Amino acid sequence: MSDLARELKASIRTIPDYPKPGVLFRDITTLLGQPRAFRRAVDELVHPYAGDNIAKIAGIEARGFILGGAIAHQLSAGFVPIRKKGKLPHETVRIAYSLEYGVDEMEMHRDAVKPGERVLLVDDLIATGGTAEGAVKLLQQMGAEVIAACFVIDLPDLGGRAKIEALNVPVRTLMSFE
Ligand code: PRP
Ligand code: ADE
Repeated sequence: MSDLARELKASIRTIPDYPKPGVLFRDITTLLGQPRAFRRAVDELVHPYAGDNIAKIAGIEARGFILGGAIAHQLSAGFVPIRKKGKLPHETVRIAYSLEYGVDEMEMHRDAVKPGERVLLVDDLIATGGTAEGAVKLLQQMGAEVIAACFVIDLPDLGGRAKIEALNVPVRTLMSFE
């Protein structure tokens, strides 16, 4: 692991039994609260896609909004919010999904991406991959070309990466918690 990856990993706080017994919750608020760690995490997520003609960043509510907004600014791209159901005001597409500790539905505006637009999906963490899989499916359904999905944290034991790669979307993460 690089020094940077080690430094970023040390900035993550782990909370046992949140939000349910048995879950080790990997909390990025401690990374976000450290100016250097926040900047370096964003820079590290951005650099492979600089000059890659990304039209839009799609960020997954809620933690994907924080990282996705910063990444969109750096890449001079637009931002598309993918939200839990009932939060978006205009016509939406909706999909049900499951995640490490529950089930839910997510939506995005129907007109948020144009067919063929190059989109980078961003979230803080991939666990089972259910959330990111739902988001990729919504984007692909609307004709977007999802060129990659990136996350600060991977929980490899939960197998999310393979789910996203099966949709022909490469996955990039900055660190793993086994
Ligand atoms: C967390 C995390 C990812 C998702 C990953 O979000 O930010 O979006 O879980 O889990 P998965 O890979 O098993 O699907 P959460 O639903 O807790 O929402 P929040 O960001 O609003 O707290
Ligand atoms: N989302 C799904 N699983 C999670 C975990 N273990 N920590 C933080 N966010 C998560």
